[in-house]
Amino acid sequence: MGARQREISVSEFFTKNRHLLGFDNPRKALLTCVKEAVDNALDACEEAGILPEVTVQLEAVAVGAAAVPAASQATRFRITVTDNGPGIVRQQIPRVFAKLLYGSKFHRLRMSRGQQGIGISAAGMYGQLTTGKPVKIISRTGSRAAAQYFAVQIDTKKNEPLVLENKTVEWDRPQGTQVAIEVEGRYQKGRASVDEYLEQTSIANPHVRLIYRTPEGETKDYPRAYHELPPSPKEIKPHPYGIEFGMFLKMLQESKSQTVSSLLSSDFCRVPPALADEMCKAAKVSPRAKPRDIRGAVAETLYQTIQATKIMAPPTNCLSPIGEKAILSGLYKQIKGEFYTAVSRPPSVYRGNPFIIEAGLAFGKAPDSVAKPEKQSMPLAEGEHEEGDSELARVIRYANRVPLLYQQSSCATFKAVLATTWRNYGITQSRGALPAGPMVIFVHIASVWVPFTSESKEAIAEYDEIHKEITLALRECGRRLGLFLRRRERAASEFRRRNIFELYIEEVVAACNSLKGGKLPTEKLKAQLQKIASSRTGGIKTDETLGKTGAGPEGLPHSIIVTAEGIEGEAPAIAVPAVAEVSEKQPPAKQNRKPAAKAKPAKKKSSKSATVSIARKAHPARKKK
Ligand SMILES: Nc1ncnc2c1ncn2[C@@H]1O[C@H](COP(=O)(O)OP(=O)(O)OP(=O)(O)O)[C@@H](O)[C@H]1O
Ligand SMILES: [Mg+2]
Repeated sequence: MGARQREISVSEFFTKNRHLLGFDNPRKALLTCVKEAVDNALDACEEAGILPEVTVQLEAVAVGAAAVPAASQATRFRITVTDNGPGIVRQQIPRVFAKLLYGSKFHRLRMSRGQQGIGISAAGMYGQLTTGKPVKIISRTGSRAAAQYFAVQIDTKKNEPLVLENKTVEWDRPQGTQVAIEVEGRYQKGRASVDEYLEQTSIANPHVRLIYRTPEGETKDYPRAYHELPPSPKEIKPHPYGIEFGMFLKMLQESKSQTVSSLLSSDFCRVPPALADEMCKAAKVSPRAKPRDIRGAVAETLYQTIQATKIMAPPTNCLSPIGEKAILSGLYKQIKGEFYTAVSRPPSVYRGNPFIIEAGLAFGKAPDSVAKPEKQSMPLAEGEHEEGDSELARVIRYANRVPLLYQQSSCATFKAVLATTWRNYGITQSRGALPAGPMVIFVHIASVWVPFTSESKEAIAEYDEIHKEITLALRECGRRLGLFLRRRERAASEFRRRNIFELYIEEVVAACNSLKGGKLPTEKLKAQLQKIASSRTGGIKTDETLGKTGAGPEGLPHSIIVTAEGIEGEAPAIAVPAVAEVSEKQPPAKQNRKPAAKAKPAKKKSSKSATVSIARKAHPARKKK
């Protein structure tokens, strides 16, 4: 047995366990490859302060001598993702694309889409494994530098790159990176598809322009809806509460600081020198002792003292939430509905890592969306339902602005949706099931370190703090929805009452007229009675709540109805997503939608809860479906 003991390289391990990286079936593998490349492109652009413009091209590729098959029949695809980012320096390219666990994001605490240094090289490795083709890269760091072309593969035994080709090439872009991978895959639209991933990416990233060339030859353009970059999140140092004892020992051994006190104040956040000295004294350690000399029981006492000391929560400028108005705008743009709301929770902390939970809700069905799509002949993917076969809510999940499309049921966000008692808000819900109704629930976690349940970054682990924050955000959304539904119900009952009054008005006017010997100004009396009937049944508010003030065809309104507790006025414009926005101070901004004839001007107070109820004649997303 001793002779058989061998080292296992990380590449060999993940070749055998490729499902851990999201390559368990061809359809999902295609999505994972696109996702890794697009996430990297967006991270790189944002880090360099460039407004991202990303092109994704999927092409069906022939296998052997056969002709190129149709997209739906193809088993092999070429994925080409091009960005306008900062490019990658020549020496780094082989390792970035052909060495697992190599990257710039793992060792820092800063919010970004990627964090583990395994994404794009794993996609390349999957391509190599299934098609034998190398990853092809073109990267240019600026107009003065030449564009570099590389073809690389992984030596899986050593987890090192093999450069098959490197040359300078002509490239029509001043800077950026293009990565092309050929993989075994399957293209199918619907839930958890590449199409859905790109659509959801555009909802949560309104500052990105995405161009998608589908394998069917179509070009979909997701235009940029917001022309400024989100504020760049800052890098932070670890918080003392988030450090495990073993890690603390390692820091003591490896620190460059001269004294324990300076180690505590310079290697951790929120520890000023005075507090560091105080903690050392409380643990009976000299603040001037060398960190390397602190070992064993002394180190343990110091660690316990630090954990027992009250230390300020970590700073939150390392987070860049999407923002309530941007969520509303994204939901409004992509999802049909009558009621929209969004909530950004204040920052919170798990294991010393700051995070922010944001939730949103789109509710309602448009009367013109009843046309059912034709039955799909393809089998359904995970999480996919036949449209209309169930009226359960749909949950869309994001982590650091990246849509999560698989492993829904093991995700903390989904569990929190199930655990919320939606019946309290007037929504039906069977025990242990999703709430029923035409509803889309949006949940986003922004953190410097998102606790994914596996390397494929598909579901969020259930830390108590995270679960609690998601629940609080969902409850607030639910409470607002409940208010909206109750108001609408009340308005409907007032409207029925008004109809009954109006039925009798003709009779009453005719009777009065005959009593007066036919000399009564009947039209005037009718108008007066109608005015009373209207004012006794909620007046214009009733019409607004029921969406009857619009002048569209078939009585369909195309204006915006405003609930008392939400932003009053127009549909939300996309706001700068910033932590500052969580402070609820910004008045609602303008957007290019027609204001309601009777809509009230924006009330400052109401910007606090970003809730709008929007009804309109036609919705772009509706037309598509
Ligand atoms: N398009 C790109 N432009 C610039 N740099 C890039 C690009 N793609 C990747 N990189 C660099 O290569 C590194 C490795 O990317 P990779 O996707 O393997 O890991 P990651 O993004 O750090 O983490 P994750 O495994 O979570 O995706 C990144 O950290 C980044 O520095
Ligand atoms: Mg990545």
